[in-house]
Amino acid sequence: MKAQRVSLLLVAAVLFLCSVHARGLRRCLVSMDMRHVVESFQEIKKAIQAKDTFQNVTILSTSETLHRIKPLDVCCVTKNLLAFYVDKVFKDHQELNPQILRKLSSIANFFLYMQKALQPCQEQRQCHCREEATNATRIIHDNYDQLEVRSAAIKSLGELDVLLAWLDKNHQENSAA
Ligand SMILES: *[C@@H]1O[C@H](CO)[C@@H](O)[C@H](O)[C@H]1NC(C)=O
Ligand SMILES: *[C@@H]1O[C@H](CO)[C@@H](O)[C@H](O)[C@H]1NC(C)=O
Repeated sequence: MKAQRVSLLLVAAVLFLCSVHARGLRRCLVSMDMRHVVESFQEIKKAIQAKDTFQNVTILSTSETLHRIKPLDVCCVTKNLLAFYVDKVFKDHQELNPQILRKLSSIANFFLYMQKALQPCQEQRQCHCREEATNATRIIHDNYDQLEVRSAAIKSLGELDVLLAWLDKNHQENSAA
């Protein structure tokens, strides 16, 4: 009985240490409810993707780039991708349909809010960019720059579901690292 209690304590201690370790690796998480922004995108996804004529290329290159990002690089890549959308994609895209524009604006506002939430973390120098993260960001910018700017912007908007899913998955406190 005593031995059992000791081993249970050991298991608890190991679990505790693992969770501390995981939290340490996953600093700078922005935990927020993404349902609203995901829904906003779902409502305009078809219309946006229908305007994307270069189905044979990708900007975020799902499997190769984003899925390989390590927990240590999540903060940096999040910061870089938010900046990519805020400073480039949303600015390069001209939307004439007021309904779509409204949805895009709410997504852009969410990104600005997320940028703001990450700021204290950057100021405390906890959002370090390692070479892997810088490379992944460069690949995305290179993909973008290879297309004509309007096509690149619409394609990047069409890939917002990839980004939103990645953000959602990587900014959950209890997500598997
Ligand atoms: C993708 O398709 C477009 C038009 O169909 C073509 O001009 C372009 O060269 C293709 N790009 C690649 C990388 O295959
Ligand atoms: C980053 O990209 C450079 C240039 O392509 C490459 O030489 C380097 O090995 C890459 N680093 C990592 C960590 O992937």
